[in-house]
Amino acid sequence: MTDKDKPETIPTDQLIRLLLTLKEEAEDQIRQSDVSYEELRLSLFGKESELTKLSQSMRLVPKEDKQRVGIVLNQVKQSLEQLLSKKAKESGLVNEDWMDVTAPGIRPPEGHLHIVTQAIEEITQIFNKLGFTRVRHPEVDWDYYAFESLNMPHSHPASDEWETFFINLTPGVKEVHTPGVRSIVLTPHTSNGQVREMEKGILPIRMINIAKCYRRQIDVSHTPMFHQFEGLYIDKNVSIGHLKGVLDYFAKAFFGPDRKTRIRPFHFQFTEPSFEVDISCGICNGKGCRLCKEGWLELGGAGMVHPVVLKNGQIDTTIYNGFAFGWGVERSLMMKSGTQLDDIRPLYNNDVRFLEQF
Ligand code: DAH
Repeated sequence: MTDKDKPETIPTDQLIRLLLTLKEEAEDQIRQSDVSYEELRLSLFGKESELTKLSQSMRLVPKEDKQRVGIVLNQVKQSLEQLLSKKAKESGLVNEDWMDVTAPGIRPPEGHLHIVTQAIEEITQIFNKLGFTRVRHPEVDWDYYAFESLNMPHSHPASDEWETFFINLTPGVKEVHTPGVRSIVLTPHTSNGQVREMEKGILPIRMINIAKCYRRQIDVSHTPMFHQFEGLYIDKNVSIGHLKGVLDYFAKAFFGPDRKTRIRPFHFQFTEPSFEVDISCGICNGKGCRLCKEGWLELGGAGMVHPVVLKNGQIDTTIYNGFAFGWGVERSLMMKSGTQLDDIRPLYNNDVRFLEQF
């Protein structure tokens, strides 16, 4: 073997010594130099620097010593880096407070109204255009307004599905209407606002009462707490034609011109005649799916206000009549084109990942 063929090596200890010497010299250079930060950095760590050259000699170190030399090399680099940045800070070579005012900002997380609140606002606006004003009536109310005033005497079977959450009266508080066992209830529907609105004594009435309702139910299309919007129009010579016109106007404005509605005869104690209003399902386009079963989804009831209800509201039935309707906000939302909600419950699970999509 000639000298030329022999693999070139460098004695490990010699390389380590060179590194340590370099470290001391470089430290002096950092302390004493007054050149710019970039220049200093380049001369210490740049391609042509002593340190880079020594790093390249690593490949000549015998295999078994590579780790040992590698550790020293890293320590030298680290301590020089630290010293350099300390000096840079002290001497103001690097200004950490510097800010690029032209850089685009970072948007803070931004919330938005809950999808149900958005729907309530939209519904309010649509009815405003027809001259209906949004009003608020209690969501915890006397049994009288939720049932008796609406032509449902105590224990009437028609009230079964609405007999929900009753509240014991505080001792000393008197039931003003119908002294009885049940007295105060978490309102199961917004119809409690009907007679309350009539009692204000201002005619004609064009109200839209939007409020929370409570019932014993939970499945894909029901939650125990939900919202309804209740329309009431009392004036002279009101007809079913007016009712249909208002329902159609709303359906087109809220759901879109291509959705169909239908009205079926039904029974409610507080309207005569009574109807149920359906809209073609937006998930399956009327074919039938998990949510709607047969292509239609019931939105709620409507009808001409029963004379007994008008009388309970002190309204002269020889002069005035009217119509009323009550629909679910969440259900309406589910049936809205583009919402693509096939389960109502996530609306109230408070999972932001779900809610922020709307
Ligand atoms: N209150 C009824 C319900 O919750 C809905 C309803 C039906 C409201 C007929 C009305 C009406 O105003 O006229 O199921």
